[in-house]
Amino acid sequence: MNEKYESVLSYHHRTKHRLNRYANGPESIDWQDQPNQFRRFSGCEIVRLPRPGTELEPLFSDLDNAEIPAKPLNSVNAGLLLELAFGLSAWKQFGSNRWALRCNPSSGNLHPTEAYLVSTGNDFIQSGVYHYLSHDHSLERRCLFSGDVQDAGLLIGLSSIHWREAWKYGERAYRYCQHDIGHALGALSYASATLGWSVELFAKWSDNDINQLLGLDRDDFITLEHESPDIICRIHTQPNNKPLVAKALLEAAQSGEWFGKADGLGANHSYHWPIINEISNAASKPKTIEPMHQAATQQYTIKSPCIKSATQIIRQRRSAQQFDGNASLLAKTDFYRMLAAVLPSTPAFELWRWPPKIHLFIFVHNVDGLTPGIYVLLRYSDALEKLQAATLSDFDWQKVSEIVPLYHLHSGDYRQVAKTLSCHQSIASDSAFSLGMVAEFSESIDVTPWLYRRLYWECGLIGQVLYLEAEALDFRGTGIGCYLDDSVHELLGIKDDKWQSLYHFTVGMPLEDHRLETLPGYAHLGSYDIL
Ligand SMILES: Cc1cc2nc3c(=O)[nH]c(=O)nc-3n(C[C@H](O)[C@H](O)[C@H](O)COP(=O)(O)O)c2cc1C
Repeated sequence: MNEKYESVLSYHHRTKHRLNRYANGPESIDWQDQPNQFRRFSGCEIVRLPRPGTELEPLFSDLDNAEIPAKPLNSVNAGLLLELAFGLSAWKQFGSNRWALRCNPSSGNLHPTEAYLVSTGNDFIQSGVYHYLSHDHSLERRCLFSGDVQDAGLLIGLSSIHWREAWKYGERAYRYCQHDIGHALGALSYASATLGWSVELFAKWSDNDINQLLGLDRDDFITLEHESPDIICRIHTQPNNKPLVAKALLEAAQSGEWFGKADGLGANHSYHWPIINEISNAASKPKTIEPMHQAATQQYTIKSPCIKSATQIIRQRRSAQQFDGNASLLAKTDFYRMLAAVLPSTPAFELWRWPPKIHLFIFVHNVDGLTPGIYVLLRYSDALEKLQAATLSDFDWQKVSEIVPLYHLHSGDYRQVAKTLSCHQSIASDSAFSLGMVAEFSESIDVTPWLYRRLYWECGLIGQVLYLEAEALDFRGTGIGCYLDDSVHELLGIKDDKWQSLYHFTVGMPLEDHRLETLPGYAHLGSYDIL
């Protein structure tokens, strides 16, 4: 077995939650000593972006067809892109405690994902690399490119501070960082679509390339608080962007002038989780040759009934903390619409350059016209026989819909089971449905271990679509990273590493916690001078 694959498998098994033992994490947490959610670089020029909060015309339902006129690329719209993808959507307050929420969700609201804007050939900002500081809705200029730089338009880079997540979740945190990247990518995809733009993932780039472009390999970080490179993508703001020469861009970063040092995140490093560095090395991405895979985009059979604007849905997205079990009855058409939205042929997955690897095993609790029980949504049809062979022989595999590839497996009231499997959380049982995202696992990663990360990214992307679709139907979703891995596999009859459940999700009618006060995302910025 290849050494890296062995490390990845060993990490995966070691970080499973089990009925009798959770994965290794801190024994105690000092809540007053939480790592700062907002990274700042001291010594950089600050570029303040125009006031956030602008409403755009497209309705959420307009995102179904990709014919939204492209907005011009300027500071207002680049700022909106960042805000709608990674900006603050609200503050919550309870007594003297106050915390920010963002357009992208994050496990434990710890936000390990950092976002960068790389600009060349744009009039509104000098060519260089900028760190997005969501708290202030501003850019910190990390690098100024010198001389003539190839015009590559606008790029967005994503990285993760694993320690920020590990502070609370210990060894399992690396998984959550990857989920969060998938969600951030989904958030970026919706933000771009709302502006009439699109996202192109640079699938071939190695982690080292991303390090070099974003300056993550520089001596500007406290060792334990470094950022790991994840994704680089280009935002197409007009149809015919010229092809990008990666080498020229990397040279521009190398010869550019760099500024600033990352401030410490301000919490004690009381616990150390060396396994996270080990998995991070084992799953690092080399430069790759990527076959061009593009699922043909199909028209939706069920149109989104949502009449709210896309910006409103994006900003109002939240995780439900609790559901009203009695009110969580979802109409079958709405359920099918949500499932159709996570199929690989839909606009949100246009940026996904690789064949799908994830299927949804769904506990239907409360969907009008569907018998409660276990169902599966196949995201590609070739998997049917393989999954039939890998799961319980008494599943009946009855196709229940002509609209989505949904199969009934077993009838029954699975609410208590779903709750137990999701670490005893009631959000998995009081909902209309909850689900496990099951990945084609060992065959995806045995020769290419870094794909371990990509499986989680795909799960996060699916999760982001479910969050927004739920919001658009006046329901609400919550991502669930805490679940008992092998108990899920046992229930489904999965016996080996060929298939593994990598993320859970739940959707229902939320119960609001009226003790919490909600404040606007950017009220704290006060009076505002536009740059
Ligand atoms: C990868 C991931 C895992 C999560 N796991 C859980 C979970 O197990 N239980 C839970 O109640 N919420 C979970 N959440 C929801 C987060 O707590 C929530 O996103 C965060 O508090 C920010 O709130 P918001 O989504 O309303 O912005 C998860 C979110 C993500 C993205």
